[in-house]
Amino acid sequence: MKLVERVLGHPWVYEHVRSLPVGGIDLSRAYRLLECDERSVVLDVGCGMGDALRHIGKYADYLGLDTDGVALAHARARHAGRRNLRFEQRSCSAQDLSARPVSHVSLIGVLHHLSDREALGLLRALASCASLVRAVCVDTVYLEGRFYNNLLAWYDGGRYCRDPGGYPRLAREAGLQVHTQQIVRSHPTRGLVDYFVMELSR
Ligand SMILES: C[S@@+](CC[C@H](N)C(=O)[O-])C[C@H]1O[C@@H](n2cnc3c(N)ncnc32)[C@H](O)[C@@H]1O
Repeated sequence: MKLVERVLGHPWVYEHVRSLPVGGIDLSRAYRLLECDERSVVLDVGCGMGDALRHIGKYADYLGLDTDGVALAHARARHAGRRNLRFEQRSCSAQDLSARPVSHVSLIGVLHHLSDREALGLLRALASCASLVRAVCVDTVYLEGRFYNNLLAWYDGGRYCRDPGGYPRLAREAGLQVHTQQIVRSHPTRGLVDYFVMELSR
């Protein structure tokens, strides 16, 4: 592995250096919206280093998917020994929502990486999942008059950052209910940018 990849992919750099320009990242409130319990069958799409597991506490079964092998290697090391949990390196397919009785889906930091066509495919699979209780999405968002927010949203790497109407429009088009939608700071006290948070159900 190249040195630069090793440095940038190190968990400390990921957690502390990458979050500096946005003033800090604390997504604990978003993860709490999932309201997982000991019966929850969790699908964590774009799981990264498995941060969800720090917040969701109880679950019956957890599957984390991500395309980034470096992040997954850290996720596996961090959560080694925990039961009923696995990480796989790939993007999500409709089969991931039919092969297990998925009840809770984390889409935290994902939709802004997907084109409308890809996002609709994923959200339609959620809408067809009979066991789904709740999904939570968190994404970068373009906001009128917010130059710094918009610059960082553009710089974030997600090619499909949308304005506040864009995410709920996709969810409704896919046949999902948008329970709540809100704009929240990346960190409750220090955050310099805002994220768009949606709670979805069938
Ligand atoms: C902003 S990070 C969020 C990570 C994690 N959910 C968290 O809260 O810390 C977004 C993650 O989505 C992953 N990702 C992007 N496109 C993806 C796709 N099509 N399928 C699966 N994962 C994807 C990236 O590799 C990255 O790890």
